[in-house]
Amino acid sequence: MQLPFETTPVVPAIPITFATKATWSTIAKDLPEPARQFALANDFTGKPGKCLTLPAPDGQIAHVVFGLEDESAKSRDLFRPGALPGLLPPGVYRFANAPHDPRLATLAFALGSYRFGRYRKAEKPEVRLVPPDGVDIADIARTAEAAALARDLINTPSNDMGPEQLADTAKALAERFGASFKCIIGDDLVKQNFPLIHAVGMASARTPRLIDLSWGDPAHPKVTLVGKGVCFDTGGLDLKPSSGMLIMKKDMGGAANVLALAQMVMDAKLKVRLRVLIPAVENAVAGNAFRPLDIFKSRKGPTVEIGNTDAEGRLVLADALALADEEKPELLVDLGTLTGAARVALGPDLPPFYTHDEMLAESVAAHAKRENDPLWRMPLWPPYDSWLDSKVADINNAPSGTFAGSITCALFLQRFVTDAKSWLHVDIYGWTPSAKPARPEGGECQAARAIYKLLSERYA
Ligand code: BES
Ligand code: MN
Ligand code: ZN
Repeated sequence: MQLPFETTPVVPAIPITFATKATWSTIAKDLPEPARQFALANDFTGKPGKCLTLPAPDGQIAHVVFGLEDESAKSRDLFRPGALPGLLPPGVYRFANAPHDPRLATLAFALGSYRFGRYRKAEKPEVRLVPPDGVDIADIARTAEAAALARDLINTPSNDMGPEQLADTAKALAERFGASFKCIIGDDLVKQNFPLIHAVGMASARTPRLIDLSWGDPAHPKVTLVGKGVCFDTGGLDLKPSSGMLIMKKDMGGAANVLALAQMVMDAKLKVRLRVLIPAVENAVAGNAFRPLDIFKSRKGPTVEIGNTDAEGRLVLADALALADEEKPELLVDLGTLTGAARVALGPDLPPFYTHDEMLAESVAAHAKRENDPLWRMPLWPPYDSWLDSKVADINNAPSGTFAGSITCALFLQRFVTDAKSWLHVDIYGWTPSAKPARPEGGECQAARAIYKLLSERYA
């Protein structure tokens, strides 16, 4: 992505003044009289999200005023300035006063400049910003680039983003940062004991694979990231209805966000031994597809009965988590677009996270808030664990009831993590259903920014 930042201070930049309903009258007083009159005539009052360009006597744009929530408002959208790239005419701008959070506002400006340009001529960002003083623009650029990577991967339709292309992306990332890369493909998944990944992916002509990337000093603490890479989820033989299938190109959103997170970690050279594991499969329909009631022995050992072929994400993650767990990492994180139930509980913008580690939970919640990358803790509720019982195998992948679907999925995954010092699971959506400031409709970077900051704090 081409970032919208103007770091060579050649052009005089047009000032953007942030106003709220409370501050507007004071701000208006200091404007040149014609500009003040113009704002008055346009009924500008500092309403959140309202943008007005004020003319100079020669008709050029002299000034911009943009409305934000009052300091005392019950909730403030700290990403609101992310609407500016979509509202302003081409030009170079600067912040004339401080928005509520200058760092997040600058990031929002970049996130709001994102366009998915793969399939038609990309409009290059013509609304540019001179970064405000005092922000770490390198870190903001790193974050915005990673978010664009996640969005691009998710937005790319499945015909161009199958297991192989997802692996190619991971390989390119490994090459860029000097990481090691390997991939276990097709029947080798069976030979090397990844039965569940193979079972889910085998019906597709596009061979399933396990992507495995490692980076950093082996002496550093081990942090392993696992991402659900279902490149398209038809539901399998438990076929989804067309309405449910329509956004399932995004079912590799966990993988996309894990790659975005890995990119940030490697670019910032955090002191970790990083491992990224992505089971990349297509959950397709064919004569050799896995079936409801099939039973497979998992990598970790327990036999898994297939209650529903559409609960495929937890299956591929189970084998990948088992592999990750074998090394007893200090921190094991998995991200995946796992359940519709998470959306029923919390909606698309607030993914639930699960962990037994109280300190980690507090830290995740704090960083999520600080980064405006919202996450909400839900419980690994032990009494529901028995809902995963199978009559014939050690565990069933889909409880018969529909209650607490995101929790029971987390409990399923928990069975495959026993030795990691600390485990964090996030049931993301990875998609913005309708555009908001800094969040264009489509693929979304979720949880990666918050976790990056958590890791930066721990392992700088
Ligand atoms: N990829 C879906 C989850 C999903 C659905 C995410 C809709 C976002 C929007 C996942 O593989 C799935 O199909 N889960 C099932 C699980 C069920 C069969 C136990 C679900 O949520 O319905
Ligand atoms: Mn599914
Ligand atoms: Zn899925």
